[in-house]
Amino acid sequence: MNYQIAVLKGDGIGPEITESAVRVLEKIAEISGRSFQFTEYLIGGIAVDQTGVPLPPETVSGCLSSDSVLLGAVGGPKWDTLPPEKRPEKALLGIRAALGLYTNLRPAKLFPALRGASPLRESVIGSGFDLLIVRELTGGIYFGERGYREGRFGEEAFDTEAYSVTEIERIGRAAFSAAQKRRGKVTSIDKANVLETSRLWRKTMHRLAAEYPDVAYGDLLVDNAAMQLVRNPAQFDVIVTSNLFGDILSDEASQITGSIGMLASASLGDGVRGMYEPIHGSAPDIAGQDKANPIAAILSAAMMLRYSFGLSAEADRIERAVDLVLEAGFRTADIMGDGGGTLLSCSAMTEKILEAAGS
Ligand code: IPM
Ligand code: MG
Repeated sequence: MNYQIAVLKGDGIGPEITESAVRVLEKIAEISGRSFQFTEYLIGGIAVDQTGVPLPPETVSGCLSSDSVLLGAVGGPKWDTLPPEKRPEKALLGIRAALGLYTNLRPAKLFPALRGASPLRESVIGSGFDLLIVRELTGGIYFGERGYREGRFGEEAFDTEAYSVTEIERIGRAAFSAAQKRRGKVTSIDKANVLETSRLWRKTMHRLAAEYPDVAYGDLLVDNAAMQLVRNPAQFDVIVTSNLFGDILSDEASQITGSIGMLASASLGDGVRGMYEPIHGSAPDIAGQDKANPIAAILSAAMMLRYSFGLSAEADRIERAVDLVLEAGFRTADIMGDGGGTLLSCSAMTEKILEAAGS
């Protein structure tokens, strides 16, 4: 099988970590006799610099004609003052919408070797946790009507949140099916004590829950959920939530695993094409210094093999390689924690993972 992969390196540490993920995929190709063809396209600040827009049309068409998309990160201080339409972040929203990627899977699990890097106390971590955030990605307040108007106190800005039953149902189904393949539990997170969209969300989720009697279902208000994540993360299996709440809670979930530099994500739609990216950003402060943690990008590549190409054995091989390297005590700066270990650069960590994947 020959797979076409669009590579969007983006800004900041995007190029270095994406390069690491590509090298790991090349290694997998070599081992498994598959072939991956990588084509690079511009996105984010670098696209603004080179073409004047953050999401050039060639990038969209290139992604649409490939089997899957690997993304690094976008944004940086250099482009922070651009008008909203030209901001690198806008490109991210644009490509998610253009590819119809409404399901964002963000797994957060504690790597046993990294217990010491988690900010949670040993007694709270207990026997560890392994949760999956299913975030709605192409609707809600990120895509609602917005603007400026005259308000009671003079000029005001507004953003609106809207969710249709159809949008809630399809993300709900993604969460329930994911739970069936995991520990069979879904927690839906909303703000139904205040928001109308949340009340529709909750009503729709309850209706779906009845269709999945094998899945245990519960609701949680988002403020309580933020607290529960640091109080007892092991209570969660699959969390399903809106675009904005998912954005916030997934950063929180990543931090309790030890570092945001570890967490991969998959964005999926109705077909098999997906976009795979680390959940961390472009980290401009360490860009180009070979200090970044490539693991989230590498694990994103593993998710691509699993979800878009159905290559689970190959995905397992990458995940096992990461485990082995962490267990052997190798660390990038962000995951040094209190436990000690051998500090590696981004490229040295990549080498270690390549070695482990090949063995
Ligand atoms: C993420 C990021 C993006 C988001 C930003 C960069 C637009 O924070 O993928 O979590 O909010 O979705
Ligand atoms: Mg975010």
